[in-house]
Amino acid sequence: MNSELLVSDASHFRVDYEINPYMDTAIQPDVQATLAEHQAIVAAHLAAGRKVEYLPSAPECPDMVFTANAAVIRGEKAVLGNPPSERQAEIPYFTAWLSEHHYEVVEAPYLFSGQGDALACGDLLLAAYGQRTDERMLDVLARELDYEVVPLRTVSSRWYDLDLAVGVVAPDLLAYCPDALDAASVRTLRGLGADLIEVPVEEAALFALNLVSDGTTVTMTQGVPRLAAELRGRGLEVVELDTTELAKGGGGVRCTALTLDNPPA
Ligand code: ARG
Repeated sequence: MNSELLVSDASHFRVDYEINPYMDTAIQPDVQATLAEHQAIVAAHLAAGRKVEYLPSAPECPDMVFTANAAVIRGEKAVLGNPPSERQAEIPYFTAWLSEHHYEVVEAPYLFSGQGDALACGDLLLAAYGQRTDERMLDVLARELDYEVVPLRTVSSRWYDLDLAVGVVAPDLLAYCPDALDAASVRTLRGLGADLIEVPVEEAALFALNLVSDGTTVTMTQGVPRLAAELRGRGLEVVELDTTELAKGGGGVRCTALTLDNPPA
């Protein structure tokens, strides 16, 4: 899993609007520092042996670096994201890229945060609704991608995308923040039979769970020592990177990579 990723670049990354509580138009990212941060993330994917595909960012799309929201992909099929109006201009670029790369592209009829709210976990799709994703998308995802959809809900806009509250380390190992999910969702996760790492809210708020794991190497933010230690304790290789600038847009490592290689049903 996560051995093939679609990334963009941070050349046009800005905070032009506030569509999540981390964004503040008065606090702009430093251009050079953001470029360096993003390049380090891509370099870490390559060093871990992952294949990285690249779609250049467009000047009118200040959040395009966060490719995770563009779609969720299984096998040869991609269900596009359907983001807030501020980010709609990104979608045609991703549609064109996916079509050119022979994916069957399906439009989302309702609001949908793409992989931000839909994390593949073997044959399961952990899918959140209620923030950036309309509940009706869960049936669409089950039908179009043939996943068994596991519905989850986060408790506030602080966790506007599921990938801030839950991280899939391997199909049988999940990390999650119990305080970020409602009680029913915590029960659901505990009932999956996977090994679970509980992450304190202080670390989750620093994008600890916004990680990319191929099951061997976990690429994640720095500054969250408890989760990093839990992962190392389970024999995983952990690479910790600075995500200070990306955090000004409300994103981290996971948000900047759309997974292209989720195995088909
Ligand atoms: N500024 C972006 C937005 O609010 C950040 C998206 C981060 N992506 C993610 N998968 N959490 O849409």
